[in-house]
Amino acid sequence: MSGPNSDYDPVEVTPLKEAEVEAMREAALQAVAGATDLDQLRQVRHDHAGDRSPLALANREIGALPPQARKEAGMRVGRARGAVNQAIAARQAELEAADEERMLAEEGVDVTLPWDRRPRGARHPITMMSDKVADVFVAMGWEVAEGPLVEAEWLNFDALNLGPDHPARTMQDTFWTEPTDNHVVLRTHTSPVQARTMLTREPPVYVICPGRVFRTDEYDATHSPMFHQVEGLVVDEGITMAHLKGTLDHFAQSMFGDGITTRFRPSYFPFTEPSAEVDLVCFVCRDRSPARESCRTCRGEGWIEWGGCGVVNPRVLVACGVDPDRYTGFAFGMGIDRTLMFRHGAEDLRAVFEGDVRFSLAFGSEL
Ligand code: PHE
Repeated sequence: MSGPNSDYDPVEVTPLKEAEVEAMREAALQAVAGATDLDQLRQVRHDHAGDRSPLALANREIGALPPQARKEAGMRVGRARGAVNQAIAARQAELEAADEERMLAEEGVDVTLPWDRRPRGARHPITMMSDKVADVFVAMGWEVAEGPLVEAEWLNFDALNLGPDHPARTMQDTFWTEPTDNHVVLRTHTSPVQARTMLTREPPVYVICPGRVFRTDEYDATHSPMFHQVEGLVVDEGITMAHLKGTLDHFAQSMFGDGITTRFRPSYFPFTEPSAEVDLVCFVCRDRSPARESCRTCRGEGWIEWGGCGVVNPRVLVACGVDPDRYTGFAFGMGIDRTLMFRHGAEDLRAVFEGDVRFSLAFGSEL
């Protein structure tokens, strides 16, 4: 900066000459107009309106002028700086508006684009069937009970009147865990949940228990070493086989539609006495001629095997701490996989276990 001009000599300060200031203003305005984005404009502001810009430096020279020259020079520089600042503000508004416009265009959501290219998966049909079965019973006030898949031998067999030497033990080919003298098995049916329930609750008992079970079966179109059952158990005063029949008829109708009844065939289970096999009337031909003769669902039988059932053996009540003189009960057990297969006409049981999502999707919206 030039030194103060205290003796009032007319001093010419080059940066304050009209043509110079005009040139600085022009250069600044051109730079502003040339800024194509906010970053460039920031640089322009720094170069042409910042502390070290030519106009700011010129402003500082005003003090070096003789006092009578300062006013005019001050106005000239002030006007130029004002014009530059205004131009910057206007350009800034323009660029911001353009930026916003671009963002709206770029980030806009095109609602017509496909949204479901990635498959969403599906609940497994077995899960849906188990839930549906549970719903039928929960609607009647029953509770859902559960038990472990790895079970004590005593609960899987002994408590159910299947002592170590009982010949019926071989009816259920069992997976034993090592070491075998721990007496722990993979449960072969859901019936141990009966024993667990009676041991932990006071009658009246109304429970339904869907779950996984295991047997050393070959894996083929109709067998699998792992499958699903649903167990029902009632223990209350005055329970008879008639209650069992009525319950199963209601169950069958809820799952397969009006008019689908059940029939009992005499059978044997150590934990029920008397015992029966339950059949469902075929929900396609309904055991009526002539449809029955060519029915593929029941293969002309008119009836479909559904599960086992019976009146709870008093020995089981005693083993589980229930007074058999006061209480009676009934129990039933059905295969969920079988139920699913004939409800939907699936031919091969393996499709249930192989996890192909197309199988699940085929049933996905139906159950
Ligand atoms: N637990 C038997 C089975 O797996 C089915 C059953 C359950 C039979 C309850 C009678 C009562 O074969």
